Amino acid sequence: MFLAFWTPISSISGDDVKPVSVGIVGLGTVGGGALNLLRDNAAEISRRTGRDIRITHVGARRENPRYDLSGIKVSRDIMAVVNDAEIDIVVEVIGGTTTARDVVMQAIANGKHVVTANKALLAEFGNEIFAAAEEKGVYVAFEAAVAGGVPIIKVLREGLAANHVEWLAGIINGTGNFILTEMREKGRDFYDVLKEAQELGYAEADPTFDVEGIDAAHKLTILASLAFGIPLQFKKAYTEGITKLTREDVSYAEELGFRIKHLGIARRAENGIELRVHPTLIPAERLIANVNGVKNAVLVQSAPVGATLYYGSGAGAGPTASAVVADIVDVVRALNTQGSGFVPHLAFQPGALADTPILPMDEVLTSYYLRLTANDRPGVLADVTRILSEHGISIEAILQKPAHEAGSVPVILLTKRVQEKKMNQAILKMEALDDIIGKVVRIRMENLDA
Ligand code: HSE
Repeated sequence: MFLAFWTPISSISGDDVKPVSVGIVGLGTVGGGALNLLRDNAAEISRRTGRDIRITHVGARRENPRYDLSGIKVSRDIMAVVNDAEIDIVVEVIGGTTTARDVVMQAIANGKHVVTANKALLAEFGNEIFAAAEEKGVYVAFEAAVAGGVPIIKVLREGLAANHVEWLAGIINGTGNFILTEMREKGRDFYDVLKEAQELGYAEADPTFDVEGIDAAHKLTILASLAFGIPLQFKKAYTEGITKLTREDVSYAEELGFRIKHLGIARRAENGIELRVHPTLIPAERLIANVNGVKNAVLVQSAPVGATLYYGSGAGAGPTASAVVADIVDVVRALNTQGSGFVPHLAFQPGALADTPILPMDEVLTSYYLRLTANDRPGVLADVTRILSEHGISIEAILQKPAHEAGSVPVILLTKRVQEKKMNQAILKMEALDDIIGKVVRIRMENLDA
């Protein structure tokens, strides 16, 4: 017997099928990109959805002459879009967590589906937003919130749905990766590259979100929830940026066969889940170590599939619009089946989320790159290695560089895995030694060996 599992397009397309009306709130890089993409690829997209998609209303506080809005209603009051009875899907791309939160909550209350690229909003208020959407029977889609054009949300929610995720590690801020790459490859100045990233539309409105790791922590929070089936817990993420990295450490890392990448790491450990963003030394031969420029990549280790790697552009108009429009397509396809095609917001059924604790950074186990500046005297290294051994820290490699200032030498140490708390105690003891000058530089190290 033949069973029809889906409604054939031929039965839902045609003159009798009402087009889906989309309202866009925000007309910056992402909103404008989505508008252009829906127009440019309209024919192909409706072949995929079986239904026309029309942008009928745009809410933008200011004019943006870069985009052609002919035939579209434009409101300066952005809530007019959310309250427009004709609109089926509200695309929220204004960013931030204040007005955007009102827009999303009001859209849900009005029974509209939402597509958003707003990682900060979801990382901070996603639990409340998804609960409201589930209650109302509408969907909040957010592929563009993480890794731009890389469909990592769909991967974790659907492609890897049979697997047990052990850990994931991602380069999930394009601006930061662009800065690190330009500094390493061309010796460019940090702020000069940041300015270029802003001009190219990669950076957040407040670029400290990029360089201090906040943006990456927002995205990591979302990925961890999807990977492990836990509520969103942004406040518990450990966040360290790239502003303190020096060219010296970048080049010592290279010499030792490593690259420094700004990673978001989420891992199931024995007592809980690690959720951390920080610069990380990784072996130069790993594929992810060679992800450069504005590109993002997420490496997922899960069982039984093993390691899988997802790569692509993480920021900018085209890649982000690609994800926004893919979400619109998903919502429209689900509308074709009266919403029966929606997958749970956080991949796991809302009632099945786990209360596994997020580990405080002190309890995380990792290995370390340490750089000390030591007086060039006999016995200094013996003191340093004694302190490490007293804290149960094993040394993997030790390297003394030629003196760069009269009487002092840089010493590089690579350690084996140890609890962060023990490393912090050892660093304090090393810094208290008379022959150690200034602060000890510490960069965490991950093998990312699947
Ligand atoms: N500022 C973000 C980045 C934009 O650079 O990755 C994409 O989320």
